[in-house]
Amino acid sequence: MRIDIITVVPDLLTSPFGASILKRAIDKKIVEVHVHNLRDYTDKSYNQVDDYQYGGGAGMVLMIEPIDKCISALKSERDYDEVIYMTPDGATLNQKTANSLSLLKNIIILCGHYKGVDQRVRDLFITREISIGDYVLSGGELGAAVLCDSIIRLIPGVISDETSALTDTFQDNLLAPPVYTRPADYKGHTVPEVLTSGNFPKIEKWREDQAYDRTKKLRPDLLDH
Ligand code: ADE
Repeated sequence: MRIDIITVVPDLLTSPFGASILKRAIDKKIVEVHVHNLRDYTDKSYNQVDDYQYGGGAGMVLMIEPIDKCISALKSERDYDEVIYMTPDGATLNQKTANSLSLLKNIIILCGHYKGVDQRVRDLFITREISIGDYVLSGGELGAAVLCDSIIRLIPGVISDETSALTDTFQDNLLAPPVYTRPADYKGHTVPEVLTSGNFPKIEKWREDQAYDRTKKLRPDLLDH
């Protein structure tokens, strides 16, 4: 998979891809992530990429021209399955969206900043708009990092334990059951006996029951689907 991210703050995207699972996925060449600085695509002085909004009002708006140039340059090299715009008024990201995006070959992610982008960018180039939650961030970069993490970890070979991603919370609309590790007794707080019993069918049944009970208690809305 190849992901191209367009941003005015490339520095914000350095560390999410420079450590842990995402770094390993890049090192193993399972995924390529290319970060493009929008300022490299403007002819204006001072590398200007934003301007005041027509009609007045506070906040700067990212201009269409540099975005058009950047997206067109990328599209001239390869076909893209989706051009995603990170925005608080997009569809809220969930596991189902992450699952389906993880199957794609090439995607572009455009990060908004300031007051957003000229509406014509959304009308002409964007195929999908995604929010990571009902709150406003300073820009789309952290949202893009969250989106990429949720997608990349699902690609086969990225997580060493193949089944691990499939047993995550939200797969099958259930929260994950509780997990424990050593010691079996910590200051009198013990691990549920079934987990140390070695009876694997019984352990599996316990996990299913716990997942259901936890979901019913914490996120009953998930059981309605
Ligand atoms: N940009 C600003 N706020 C955002 C959000 N909640 N999700 C995605 N992109 C954003």
